[in-house]
Amino acid sequence: MNGMLKEGSLKDKTIIVTGGGTGLGRSMGKYLLELGANLTITSRKIEVLEQAAKELMEETGGQVFPIACDIRNYAEIENVIRETETKYGKVDGVLNNAAGNFISPTERLSHRAFDIVIDIVLRGTSNFTLAAGKNWIEKKQAGVFLNIVTTYAWTGSGYVVPSACAKAGVLAMTRSLAVEWAKYNIRSNAIAPGPFPTEGAWKRLFPGEVAEQLDPLKRIPVGRYGDHQELANLAAYLMSDYSAYINGEVVTIDGGEWLQGAGEFNGLEMITQDMWDMLEKMRAKK
Ligand code: HXC
Ligand code: NAP
Repeated sequence: MNGMLKEGSLKDKTIIVTGGGTGLGRSMGKYLLELGANLTITSRKIEVLEQAAKELMEETGGQVFPIACDIRNYAEIENVIRETETKYGKVDGVLNNAAGNFISPTERLSHRAFDIVIDIVLRGTSNFTLAAGKNWIEKKQAGVFLNIVTTYAWTGSGYVVPSACAKAGVLAMTRSLAVEWAKYNIRSNAIAPGPFPTEGAWKRLFPGEVAEQLDPLKRIPVGRYGDHQELANLAAYLMSDYSAYINGEVVTIDGGEWLQGAGEFNGLEMITQDMWDMLEKMRAKK
C-alpha cells in the first residue's frame, strides 16, 4: 500500500488526467504529483476540480492546474492541451480516466441513455487521444497514453452494456494505436481495474440492496477490494520511462476477479474439507 517508484521518477513530466478531481483519477494524480509530475486535472465540474487541486497541492507540494472540459467536445479538449502547454511548456502524458456508467436492464434504456455512456467513454477518450496525438505528432514530441478500461472490456457484461461496448472500443483503440503511433514515439497502454471503492462508481453500480445481493467481495479470490495506492503504483509505472518497452498492453489489477468467474470449476470453492474427505473415501472404495 506504499508508493513504489523512486522519488523524482516523473520529474519534469506534465500529465493530463481526465476525471482527475474525483475517485481513482484523483488518487492516481496524487501519486504522479508525489513523483514530481506537473498535473492538469479536467472534468465537467470546475468547482470540484478547484477544490481537488487546492487539496492535492497542499498534500504534495506539487503543481496542479484545474480546467473544465467536457470530453465529448473536441474544441474544449484542444483548449485544455493549449492551456496546459501555456502553463507548463509541454504535455508528456494523458491518463484517459473519465467515464460515465450506471446499471440498468438494457431494454429499459432510452437511446439517449445508451448514447450518453458511449459518448463519454468511447467518444470522449477517442477525442482526447486524437487531439493529443495530433499535437505530439505535429510537434515531433514523444507521448504516453494510459487508458482506464475494465475487465468486462473483453468478457462483456450484462446490465452495463453501453459501458462494456465503449470500454471494448477503448481497448481496441489502445492496441491499434500502440502499433500505428509507435513510429512517432507515442506509447498506448491500458489498465483494467477490478473493484476499487469510489463514491462515483459505488453509488451508480452497487446502490442499496444491489450491494448486498451481489456482494462483489465474494467474487474476488484475494478476498478484498483494491487499494487506490496499488492502482496508482501501476499507473505511475506505465506513465514513466521505466515502462518504455511496454506498448499495447492491458494490465489487469483485480485480485483474480474476472478469472474467478471464468473457470469452469472455480465454484468448487464452496466444497468443504469434510466433503473433500468424503469424496476421497468414495473414490478409494471403487
Ligand atoms: C437508466 C439513466 C440512468 C440510470 C441516467 N439515465 N441515469 N437511465 N438508468 N441509472 C438516462 C437519463 O434518463 C437520460 O435519458 C440519459 O441517461 C442522460 O442522463 P442525464 O442524467 O441527463 O446525463 P448526465 O447528467 O450527463 O449524467 C451522465 C451520467 C452520470 C453518465 C448519467 O451518471 C454521470 O455524470 N456519471 C459520471 C461519473 C460516473 O458515471 N462514474 C462511475 C464510473 S464507474 P433520457 O432518455 O431520459 O433523456 C465505472 C466502473 C466500472 O465505469 C467497473 C466497476 C467494477
Ligand atoms: P468517478 O469518481 O465517478 O470518476 C469519473 C470521472 O469522470 C469524474 O471525475 C467525472 O467528473 C468525469 N467525467 C464524467 N463525464 C465526463 C465528461 N463528459 N467530460 C469530462 N469528464 C467527465 O469514478 P471512478 O470509480 O474513479 O472511475 C474512474 C475510472 O475508473 C473510470 O474510467 C471507470 O470506468 C474506471 N473503473 C473504475 C472501477 C472502480 O471500481 N472504481 C473499476 C473499473 C474501472 P465530472 O462529473 O466533473 O465531469
